[in-house]
Amino acid sequence: MSEAATPPGSAPGTVFPPGFDPTAESVEKTLCFRGFWAWAVLILLIALGISLFMWLLRKCIQGPAYRKANRIDGKVVIVTGCNTGIGKETVLELAKRGARIYMACRDPGRCEAARLDIMDRSRNQQLFNRTLDLGSLQSVRNFVERFKAEESRLDILINNAGIMACPRTLTADGYEQQFGVNHLGHFLLTNLLLDRLKHSSPSRIVVVSSAAHLFGRINREDLMSEKNYGKFFGAYSQSKLANILFTRKLSTILKDTGVTVNCCHPGVVRTELNRHFAGPGWMKSVLQTGSLYFFKTPKAGAQTSLRLALDPKLEHSTGGYYSDCMWWPLVPWARNMQTADWLWRESEKLVGLPPLEPPPPGQSPTQNGNGTQNGAASGNGSGNGNGNANPASREMQSVETVVVNRS
Ligand SMILES: NC(=O)c1ccc[n+]([C@@H]2O[C@H](COP(=O)([O-])OP(=O)(O)OC[C@H]3O[C@@H](n4cnc5c(N)ncnc54)[C@H](OP(=O)(O)O)[C@@H]3O)[C@@H](O)[C@H]2O)c1
Repeated sequence: MSEAATPPGSAPGTVFPPGFDPTAESVEKTLCFRGFWAWAVLILLIALGISLFMWLLRKCIQGPAYRKANRIDGKVVIVTGCNTGIGKETVLELAKRGARIYMACRDPGRCEAARLDIMDRSRNQQLFNRTLDLGSLQSVRNFVERFKAEESRLDILINNAGIMACPRTLTADGYEQQFGVNHLGHFLLTNLLLDRLKHSSPSRIVVVSSAAHLFGRINREDLMSEKNYGKFFGAYSQSKLANILFTRKLSTILKDTGVTVNCCHPGVVRTELNRHFAGPGWMKSVLQTGSLYFFKTPKAGAQTSLRLALDPKLEHSTGGYYSDCMWWPLVPWARNMQTADWLWRESEKLVGLPPLEPPPPGQSPTQNGNGTQNGAASGNGSGNGNGNANPASREMQSVETVVVNRS
């Protein structure tokens, strides 16, 4: 039987296990060894904790997905600006569910590349490449004319295309680019398609807006940002607020027609939307790298549009604002119906549509809320897309040339 050793030099009564060498060097070695493992385990636990936190954070950032498996075989859909980003992912998912989709893009080459890619991945051949430049009212009319010649129904319209924070430029009709493309182009497109949507009811309109509307105000005195141009906090956020006010007003106009209209914020998504960002190189690199982790993927960004377009539960929901697939309350200035009414009338004049409702008392049909004439932004020198520099005559011409059926 082995006995516990009591080595010389140790405190009297101290008993060490057999084979234990309590010399200073050996104790140090043992403690070092244990310390190493303690640190290794601690570092591993911290790394695991950080990874779990980052994974959860990333999951939260990506937001919820639309998971219902309902199909929409044969339903006719138009998606604007879908050669890339959120629009392309939206089309891909709708194509997988059997829709017949008109891809409305301004660049036919890029649209064709996206169409072929989506056809490949979805095995859906019912995709069509159509040209639509929302910065040209004539292009909008041409698109609608061709679409109507091809299709007698329209089940879902997704107003997705957008442009953000570009230098101040004008549309073909002389309007500030972001307001012109994001709001006016879609305003005309939707109005010209209302007859098809009503004919196909129950049908849906989805408007892709943005949380940027929170910073926006409708500047009645300077709608085209001529006097003061802030590319993000001015023009972009105004155009995205206009998207919401348009949705709210249209939902009242379409009451009891079986056509619903809702808008959404897709989240902060890693797409080409920031292509006009003109900051210093280092900032671009930081943004690029950060966006890989902290932004939604385009697929995740498409989920709220998809829910609004597809969810059977939302068949009767209209006039709402959604984010992360959920309904969200709006700030007072985004549900101000007086501003929505004013913007609607103003937009009708700017795109050359006859008024849907009589003007408020004391205002002539050709005056805006400030008592001035409407038309292309004055002083831009570009005139309109028809080479007609007189805004008033542009308006008259547009009213005559457009074929409106909003009954
Ligand atoms: N990404 C975000 O974080 C974010 C956040 C909030 C809201 N949104 C909104 O989400 C929508 C989709 O944006 P995205 O992020 O997918 O950006 P994107 O990748 O830049 O896609 C925008 C699409 O709009 C098209 N487009 C631009 N100008 C057009 C015009 N004049 N006529 C027709 N199409 C035009 C673009 O076509 P080209 O490729 O030919 O330019 C492109 O297909 C936009 O309405 C945007 O405001 C995005």
